[in-house]
Order: sequence, then C-alpha cells, then structure tokens
Amino acid sequence: MALYSDKVMDHFQHPRNVGKMDDADGVGEVGNAKCGDIMKMYIKVKDGIITDAKFNTFGCGSAIATSSMATELIKGKKVEDALELSNKAVVEALDGLPAHKIHCSVLAEEAVAAAVKNYYDRNGIAYDPKLFSNKLHDCEHCAE
Ligand code: FES
Repeated sequence: MALYSDKVMDHFQHPRNVGKMDDADGVGEVGNAKCGDIMKMYIKVKDGIITDAKFNTFGCGSAIATSSMATELIKGKKVEDALELSNKAVVEALDGLPAHKIHCSVLAEEAVAAAVKNYYDRNGIAYDPKLFSNKLHDCEHCAE
C-alpha cells in the first residue's frame, strides 16, 4: 500500500486556499518546535461564519496537505464550530496519514485555533481560555 493516500497527494500537489489574506479577520501562526515547520492560517468572518480561509505553510508535504484540507473543512462553518476541528478529523478527511506524520496534522488544528483566538481577541469577544489551553501551548504533544 502506498505510504500516502491519493487525497494526501492531491492536497500536497494541488493545495487549496494557499496564500496570504490581506483583509483577514483572524490570523494565527504556529510552529512545531522539533521539525521547525511553521503554519500560518488566515480567516475571514462574516456574521459569525468563516467565509474564507487561507494558509501559508513552511513545512513538509503532510503539513501542506493537512493545512489545505483544514481550510476546506472550516470554510462555511461557524467560528466556534471551527474550533472543534480536530487533527483526527483532518486526517480522516485525507484518508489517513502515516503514524509518524500525525503530528503534522496537529499543526493544522492548532493553526485554526490560533486564527480563531486572534479573531476573538481583535474583536473583544469574550471566551473561556480553557478552549485554547489544550490546543495552543509549547508544543509538547506535536514534538513527537
Ligand atoms: Fe514538521 Fe510535518 S514534519 S509538520
């Protein structure tokens, strides 16, 4: 069996929603301390719905594929629902990733969370910090 699914290869070779968003309502940047890869996520929000998402990833193929899929999955979602996006859901949507690449998908989950947090902060929207405490931290679980 091939190491990477057709979907992973597709999103790696033809990533969706790549680029910078100049008028983003929320921007999040996260990094994996161990591999040094960096992911930046932009979201555009209207009436509590994510109308557009873009990303830039300086990282491995799996990081590119997972951030591409993550942007596709959060578009059209309510902001709070995007926060529920787990790396597992991203991996499932890509028909799997090799075990040693799962941490790359964690980066995508964290980048979405960082962008949402930035959106909340910019707009003075109150939130429970616990929402982010298990997603945004110093990368112990993604540095595997
Ligand atoms: Fe660093 Fe994939 S190896 S995110």
